[in-house]
Amino acid sequence: EEPDMKQLLEEISSHVKKAFEDAGYDGELGRVTVSNRPDLCEYQCNGAMAGAKRYHKAPIAMAQDVAARLEGCSVFEKAEAVAPGFLNLNLTNEFIADYVIRMSKADDFGIEKPKTSVMIVDYGGPNVAKPLHVGHLRSAVIGESIKRILHFMGNETYGDIHMGDWGLQMGLVIYELSLRQPDLPYFDETFEGEYPAEAPFTVSDLEEIYPAASGKSKNDAEYKARAMEATLKLQEGHRGYRALWHKIMDVSIADMKRNYDRLDVNFELWNGESTVQDIIPGMVQDMKDGGYAYNSDGALVVDVKEETDTKEMPPCIIIKSDGASLYNTTDLATIKDRMARYSPSKIVYLTDKRQDLYFEQVFRCARKTGLAPDDCELIHISFGTVNGKDGSPYKTRAGGVPRLSDLIDEIEESMLAKIKENAAGKGETVSDAEVLDRARKVGLAAIKYGDLSNQASKDYVFDVDRFTSFEGDTGPYILYTCVRINSILRKAAEQGIDTEDTVILPPVNASHKALMHAISGFAAEITSAYNEYAPHRICGYVYALSNAFNTFYHENHILTEEDEALRGSFIGLMKLTGRILKVCTDMLGFEIPERM
Ligand code: ARG
Repeated sequence: EEPDMKQLLEEISSHVKKAFEDAGYDGELGRVTVSNRPDLCEYQCNGAMAGAKRYHKAPIAMAQDVAARLEGCSVFEKAEAVAPGFLNLNLTNEFIADYVIRMSKADDFGIEKPKTSVMIVDYGGPNVAKPLHVGHLRSAVIGESIKRILHFMGNETYGDIHMGDWGLQMGLVIYELSLRQPDLPYFDETFEGEYPAEAPFTVSDLEEIYPAASGKSKNDAEYKARAMEATLKLQEGHRGYRALWHKIMDVSIADMKRNYDRLDVNFELWNGESTVQDIIPGMVQDMKDGGYAYNSDGALVVDVKEETDTKEMPPCIIIKSDGASLYNTTDLATIKDRMARYSPSKIVYLTDKRQDLYFEQVFRCARKTGLAPDDCELIHISFGTVNGKDGSPYKTRAGGVPRLSDLIDEIEESMLAKIKENAAGKGETVSDAEVLDRARKVGLAAIKYGDLSNQASKDYVFDVDRFTSFEGDTGPYILYTCVRINSILRKAAEQGIDTEDTVILPPVNASHKALMHAISGFAAEITSAYNEYAPHRICGYVYALSNAFNTFYHENHILTEEDEALRGSFIGLMKLTGRILKVCTDMLGFEIPERM
């Protein structure tokens, strides 16, 4: 069904706006907000304070004019003018119930969707032959959630992992391998046969080889020159090096997939820097022909400075003086490639803050050179650091940079202990496989919610104890609420109570009404999360909703309510809460276990 509804605040504002107009004032003054004094009222309007000067009136007199016109209106149970000129508003039980009923019947709870289009989210960004570490967690978790939010709003979305799979890092690995295993056919210039199917290394080998090679290249100029030579040969299409490169890719990608699977992070596109190498020469030529790129000390650059700049804005270097292309050359070519293949209306990039200036340069260059047309928005969402409890970047006990897999292990282990304890406490007998499955699902919620509940741009503290707690603003608490709802519904079914034909009735007490209020914020919060690329808005919403539900649950007897119509209404509202929580947890990127 087409949503025949607007966001709650818009609907109630329209009534207050009309009252302002009827009283002879500008209707725009009638905008309503959620009350910042919930002890006094549910909603408020400050329009009289804002408009009083214009009408040469005392704000309170103006507020009284408006309040008088709202008297007897079916939307407000209370519309009260209070000094110095606020309007305090409470909704009628009938209105809030009707709103919630309309939500329950509409597609996606009646949220209005914008005009939709194709959108690409560029996240993950792992580098081949290097292990995934704590730094890759945020890009994966936030990127996946943003992609799901864009998708929920009706867009055709593509997540692209954009691997670092080209350039010197690959040359380093190849050169180091040629020293360690010189007899491999890849290094035999005369070899014309088929290369072996097996890779001559494991992922652990690669993870040792890369840092070793990188270390040597920093202290040994000769070594570095050789590695650069290998890079160049690879790029020029050396048969053996290309074959070896494919082996490195296979082994590395298999390992990446294992890690991202554990995070339930899924990429539609497994492209990388290598994907666009062939289109770089044409792109560079176009930049020269267009008069954008010029020679500066042997390098080819594009100026991206603007008159209004207040900070240093270095030019974009497209080709270095030694003829090599760079990280940004690849990003520019990737924009060109994406435009040609998908004509996206948005490309959203996720990296840490250290790449802020970088992306500003790339975006400006893409605009200036016409690679990105005006109707394609380029957006960089940058995030802060994952810190330890001491406030500095999270380290392993030994002081190293923790691997992503170790972080997941740590959370899962802690979760496993709690889930076992929980099951034992309830006298449940559960198989090890079942316990593990629950621990994985709840652990994933712990890790993702722990990250997503913070505004992305802020640093946060990776705190296993807090993240895995079943209480407070945590993933497990949200899941606990979902599991509780599902378990009550199961119980109802066991008792032969009808959970299908339920009719939501006006609230009968404060916690009942408060739950309806919490529910009714869905469209506003999800729309903000969408417009601001801000999963933390969804966390805020599900936390408030979970709190409202749990208070409602404690203050009302749901299945034992004797008035059958009221019981049905409680069940209907509970079901709606569960449906909404499910949609929201999907957008955050975690699953609800059956029990926990
Ligand atoms: N591989 C890059 C890094 O480790 C991140 C890639 C981000 N995406 C992009 N399109 N540049 O820094």
